[in-house]
Amino acid sequence: MRRLQPDDLLLVLGPRPSVDVGAWLRDGLREAIRSGRLDHGVVLPSARTTASGLSLARGTVSSAVDELVGEGVLVSRPRSSVVVADVARPAGGEDAAGPVVVRPASVGTPDPALFPRAAWARAVREAMRDLPDADLGYPDPQGLLALREALAAHLRTTRAAPVSADDVVVVSGVAQGLALVGGVLAGAGAGAGARRVVVEDPASAGALEQLRGAGLDVVPVPVDDAGIRTSELPTADAALVTPAHQYPLGVVLAPDRRRDLVAWARDGDRLLLEDDYDAELRYDRQPVGALRGLDPQRVALMGSVSKLLSPALRLGWVVAPPGLRAALVDAKRRADLGCSVPEQAAFARLIATGAYARHLRRTRLAYKRRRQVLLDALGRAAPRLTVEGVAAGLHLVVRMPDAAAEAHAVAGLRGRGVPADALSAASARPAAWGVVMGVARVHGAVVAEVVDVLRAAADGGLVPMVR
Ligand SMILES: Cc1ncc(COP(=O)(O)O)c(C=O)c1O
Repeated sequence: MRRLQPDDLLLVLGPRPSVDVGAWLRDGLREAIRSGRLDHGVVLPSARTTASGLSLARGTVSSAVDELVGEGVLVSRPRSSVVVADVARPAGGEDAAGPVVVRPASVGTPDPALFPRAAWARAVREAMRDLPDADLGYPDPQGLLALREALAAHLRTTRAAPVSADDVVVVSGVAQGLALVGGVLAGAGAGAGARRVVVEDPASAGALEQLRGAGLDVVPVPVDDAGIRTSELPTADAALVTPAHQYPLGVVLAPDRRRDLVAWARDGDRLLLEDDYDAELRYDRQPVGALRGLDPQRVALMGSVSKLLSPALRLGWVVAPPGLRAALVDAKRRADLGCSVPEQAAFARLIATGAYARHLRRTRLAYKRRRQVLLDALGRAAPRLTVEGVAAGLHLVVRMPDAAAEAHAVAGLRGRGVPADALSAASARPAAWGVVMGVARVHGAVVAEVVDVLRAAADGGLVPMVR
């Protein structure tokens, strides 16, 4: 319960006038409560304290308060404390709180119901108990050592990649990793024209936005069912790829293409950006090892907790090749002076105690089951629909016969709260049509609705919202 002091009241009421001080107090309090600047339940200082703090007669304070209690704006409690009442806010006008905006989840968002709240709360509590005072100043822009060590150990086993704590730079997600590495690349080419980065076609629009925002030119190269077509790699300074689970098509980069890609990088002294956004969510078998394992000198491996815990945490990492590390840490320092230490300490604890691995096992199983139920239902109801990609991740691509079917599928799914994007919007050149849909929360009754929408869209129509 928040208890106000006379100084807080002065902030709320504004400067004290020399005349009509009773009206100033009464009207000011009323307006502050009605506009929501004073919340329900806030406790006012006693009449005596208010009177001496604001240089008012005690009777002036008591009568203003009595009047507001009479109006129902304040409530008088036993032992003479007075609290702000629960008053409805005006339904319009400039003081009204704006409409509650519910942002639609994006396609790759995990099911928030699976977030390990108890384990995270425990990790935060324990981390704060043990964090030395010295760690509560500005952070090391490279990241908290305890987290870099925990991440390095975790990635060595789960991604079969050589990683030491020194290689890790903690960032606020893959998006920031791309922006910062992109900025370093663009800076290195200053004066020599814009630097070019090969990207997959189709690709994540958000990832391309980060690279373009950093001042780089992106050069799309098509993806087929073995991943990016390495035979079509042009001259460029770097490439961004999603080898473990191509976004959005869901294919895995074939072993010979991985080798070709690394050879291309070596030939031209190029950097490879490995977006490992959902690699640990492989349901049919162990994930393929990270590309970084083939050439740690050239591959910057990027990942985050966004798919495995929650994108709300804004916590990720770049495992940087030695030649990039110092510039990247400097870019991170210039961007925001480093990530939140308490969050990093909590995540380090979650990994070190094994709670993170347990969470991964549990969620992997839940998503695997959900995916299978959806695929079985689709297979029964719409056997002609093609679903792309390996059994992994939080999204699916379902091919559509034409642009109208694609638009119907996207609108139908979004209308039912299922995140969906048009595949054609993620493609640089004319591509087949399809819907990229987020499936993390598709289970139970939603499955039949999703199947109905996809089947009807492919057959040339929308399923009405109310049936
Ligand atoms: C392929 C891909 N890369 C990168 C990102 C950005 O992820 P982060 O939340 O780690 O910044 C996303 C987010 O959805 C994604 O799907």
